[in-house]
Amino acid sequence: MGNSIREGLVQLLIRHRENFLSGEEISQRLECSRTAVWKHIEELRKEGYQIEARPKSGYRLVYRPDRVAPEELQPHLSTRSFGQHFRYRAQVTSTQALAHEWAREGAPEGAVVIAEEQTEGRGRMGRSWHSPPRSGIWMSLILRPSLPLPLAPQLTLVASVALSRALKSETGLPVSIKWPNDLLVHGKKVCGILTELRGEQDQIQYIVLGMGINVNVTEEFFPKELKEKATSLAIEGKQTYSRPQLICSMLKELETWYNGYLTHGFEPIRILWEESAGMLGKMITARTPSGEKRGIAKGLDATGALLLETEEGILPVFSSYID
Ligand code: BTN
Repeated sequence: MGNSIREGLVQLLIRHRENFLSGEEISQRLECSRTAVWKHIEELRKEGYQIEARPKSGYRLVYRPDRVAPEELQPHLSTRSFGQHFRYRAQVTSTQALAHEWAREGAPEGAVVIAEEQTEGRGRMGRSWHSPPRSGIWMSLILRPSLPLPLAPQLTLVASVALSRALKSETGLPVSIKWPNDLLVHGKKVCGILTELRGEQDQIQYIVLGMGINVNVTEEFFPKELKEKATSLAIEGKQTYSRPQLICSMLKELETWYNGYLTHGFEPIRILWEESAGMLGKMITARTPSGEKRGIAKGLDATGALLLETEEGILPVFSSYID
């Protein structure tokens, strides 16, 4: 209840930012007491909103901090289920950890965990993921597809297609996919995807799809070892981007392509993935249980494995073997 008053209050202040709204009017519109209005105004101020108060006139929004809280996302969100259940934190160890906890408690499909900052962000292959405050999108999405376990890697490819479309349309930057799940701009990484799942008897029980997007991270905030390989949308686009708008566009594309995949299968995703892949025709190295394989990336097979043209012939390589 408290949260919905707060969401309503932010929406009202945004809509009426040109003029003052009296405490009386706000309390009537939100059906709460004037004390509740005042309490929420104070809380918003603590979080960085600047709200001017004038005797006899009321309140007026002067400045809105860049936050990815539900009240900032709601006006842009046009999904049916993705992001409609939401846990937002100013700081977490990892949104993945919180999402696993919530999924075990029964979170519905489409539930999302977002944080402004992660102190122990996780990457693939046991790496850490640099997640500085308020400058990126650190988000985990819970999915509950009725699919056999071996198909789970396809969902990472669905996500990379959906996210590349969202980032391209919101920024106009040339976003390409590096197999299996990195998104690059001008050859440097802007987004990583981490798919973690829990299965039972060959069926997926739930998936936590973790996404890290370097949105407005500036050069000095990248640790030295990442500067060569990583970049942000802001560095490449030479402007900052609205994180709430990006998140809503990402959730919309994810919902569309996920549902499309469940209805029509993997083939449309395979075709789109190949169109956006920057590595086809290039020599790459894959680490497989039988050693390193070097070969030319040719495309994806019908299961989602990468086809590698090697000296031994064309080999399908599974996502877990590529660094
Ligand atoms: C990669 O190694 O490329 C995958 C990085 C995934 C990072 C995201 S940020 C949100 C979510 N929470 C985490 O701890 N990791 C994922």
